[in-house]
Amino acid sequence: MKTIQLDIQHAVSYVEKEYKALEPEAVKALSVLEEGTGAGNDFLGWLDLPSGTDEALIDRINATAQRLRENCDYVVCVGIGGSYLGAKAVNTALQDNFADYYAPRPKEPKVLYAGQNIGEEYLTELGKLLEGKRFGIIVISKSGTTTEPAIAFRLLRDQLEKQAGKDAAKSLIVAITDGSKGALRQMADEEGYETYVIPDNVGGRFSVLTPVGLLPIAVAGHDIKKLINGAADMERTTLHSSEENPSMIYAQLRNALYRSGKKIEILVNFDPKLHYFSEWWKQLYGESEGKDGKGIFPASVDFTTDLHSMGQWIQDGERTIFETVLSVRKPAVEKRVPENAANLDGMNYIAGKRIDEVNKMAELGTQMAHVEGGVPNIRIEIPSLDEYSLGQLIYFFEKACGISGYMLGVNPFNQPGVEAYKRNMFKLLKKPGYTD
Ligand code: PA5
Repeated sequence: MKTIQLDIQHAVSYVEKEYKALEPEAVKALSVLEEGTGAGNDFLGWLDLPSGTDEALIDRINATAQRLRENCDYVVCVGIGGSYLGAKAVNTALQDNFADYYAPRPKEPKVLYAGQNIGEEYLTELGKLLEGKRFGIIVISKSGTTTEPAIAFRLLRDQLEKQAGKDAAKSLIVAITDGSKGALRQMADEEGYETYVIPDNVGGRFSVLTPVGLLPIAVAGHDIKKLINGAADMERTTLHSSEENPSMIYAQLRNALYRSGKKIEILVNFDPKLHYFSEWWKQLYGESEGKDGKGIFPASVDFTTDLHSMGQWIQDGERTIFETVLSVRKPAVEKRVPENAANLDGMNYIAGKRIDEVNKMAELGTQMAHVEGGVPNIRIEIPSLDEYSLGQLIYFFEKACGISGYMLGVNPFNQPGVEAYKRNMFKLLKKPGYTD
């Protein structure tokens, strides 16, 4: 089956009554979302983004990506939060685990990231890596005024202009920002950089299917059309309220769990390629739901790695958690545990088995243990790690996030809390206008 599958039996069993009772609320939240009558309804552009993405935009993005692929050995994506995590999540899920350790090949630039921290060593070491190299920059900021990417861009642009010359640098910089406002828009217009617009009605954490995510994903060599197709299919699947609507089911269930005291949701993966997908998911749910003194705390673990660090807590700690497991049905390759005549490690009992079979047994064994230990378990099966499946998964979570936020009674589309640290930092740095 090509669609992602939701298995909720090991979670519903904990909150059967609450789950059923919440159905009318879930139906209402979905219709408020679809009809655009709820809080934050000026940020619903992502809802029909997949079905509304036209071929011309895809072609233009692919052409820009091709230009960067031909002229660069490294392309640095500069952005933070919603202007970074989606591309990082998809590119990490689709690339070879060791891609970063191979030298760049012609027309296959390495995609690097900056502006997602203020690490002096990070930025210095990035500059060092790029010394004398052919590189390009995709600078992404919806507001166009965010400090972290602005610092990184200033450094990288200076370096690029010195290395390639000011004119050549212009064709190697692409800016993705607001259509009319912000410092980045002004700079891009003045300098003549190629630009893409982030639609006004799409917030940062919902923007991976706009040029914000699509361009860096295309530069990494992935098929953005398939990504959009997967999302568009999920858009259709989640349009109406029904027992078959996976986003509604997930939103309804996590709210039932939350109201019965399960305040922390742990997104679990059994494939290291999904590590950054969890980071994207944490931002999506954390910024959307954590407000007004409410919200499930979104956490994540990479299994089996973290079974050897967090496994004890999950099995035996305070019973305020539930797990949502991302399970990839089919790896793209096949490898088996080798036979060994001496069998000194005692591993011959699994000789000949696929590594993935061992992983799946670890997953099943963990599910049994955690469910037994009082941890409700939602399982999401992904057919394979490819563009189409990731497109589905992204839209599934986005849609569920909107429904879930409304069920929780918050505006899922604002992020007032993000401003508090910025105001303090600006005062401390004596930014004009913030000195009092
Ligand atoms: O989801 C959000 O709105 C935020 O995480 C933003 O994406 C992040 O703060 C970066 O903002 P900007 O794109 O304006 O630089």
